[in-house]
Amino acid sequence: QVTSTEELKKAVGYKAVDDHIQSGMVVGLGTGSTAYYAVERLGQKIKNGQVVDIVAIPTSTKTEQQAKSWGIPLVTLDTHPALDVAIDGADEVDSQLNLVKGRGGALLREKMVEVEARKLVIIVDESKLVSGLGITGAMPVEVTPFCWKRTMRRLLDIEAFQGCQVSAKLRQENDQIYITDNHNYIVDLFFQKPIPDLMLAARQLIDIVGVVEHGLFLNMADICIVSGKDGIRVIEK
Ligand code: A5P
Repeated sequence: QVTSTEELKKAVGYKAVDDHIQSGMVVGLGTGSTAYYAVERLGQKIKNGQVVDIVAIPTSTKTEQQAKSWGIPLVTLDTHPALDVAIDGADEVDSQLNLVKGRGGALLREKMVEVEARKLVIIVDESKLVSGLGITGAMPVEVTPFCWKRTMRRLLDIEAFQGCQVSAKLRQENDQIYITDNHNYIVDLFFQKPIPDLMLAARQLIDIVGVVEHGLFLNMADICIVSGKDGIRVIEK
């Protein structure tokens, strides 16, 4: 019986690879503790010859290292601009399969890779399912280090956030400013109430000069594989 959190993550990671990756595909590899198991499964299947002619694009230096350790052949979006499938975790998933991503810090590369995927498969445990985005934790925004305080102030003024009681914090790790793979900072936004108009919020976020990318992934996911105490279910858009 599937019980521990790790076993749940492993179950959805393995299922995503088994159900959605076939030989010859260009594959996007997500980042995080759930996507880890998808990379592991793909690595195993390539190693034992169950799938062949795969090339993959990692969404972080961490995933790149893991993929290399399995000998998964890696390429980039520059040479392979169209992906057959991408598999990744998420921090929040709503009923329309809109997502909050980036609590692991990889949102820019994740979004760049995953918008180019014909199919985006999201793997989560049921604690990630929410009725409205923005309330279980941070909504990350990648910003330039240059004048980040000014960018943070602009974020707090966004019209689409009025009424959500938004607050902001520069992400830190071990008492140091957290630096992304792209050498930027992350401002984490916190809301007391869910963001009411996601499309407006996404537009107003990216319109701020100094914002590199944000963690709202709207209309991108096609399939969500969810694990819970009663087993695994698949939500399709
Ligand atoms: C990485 O930046 C994130 O977008 C992750 O995909 C997200 O945080 C999910 O990670 P877990 O599977 O570890 O919860």
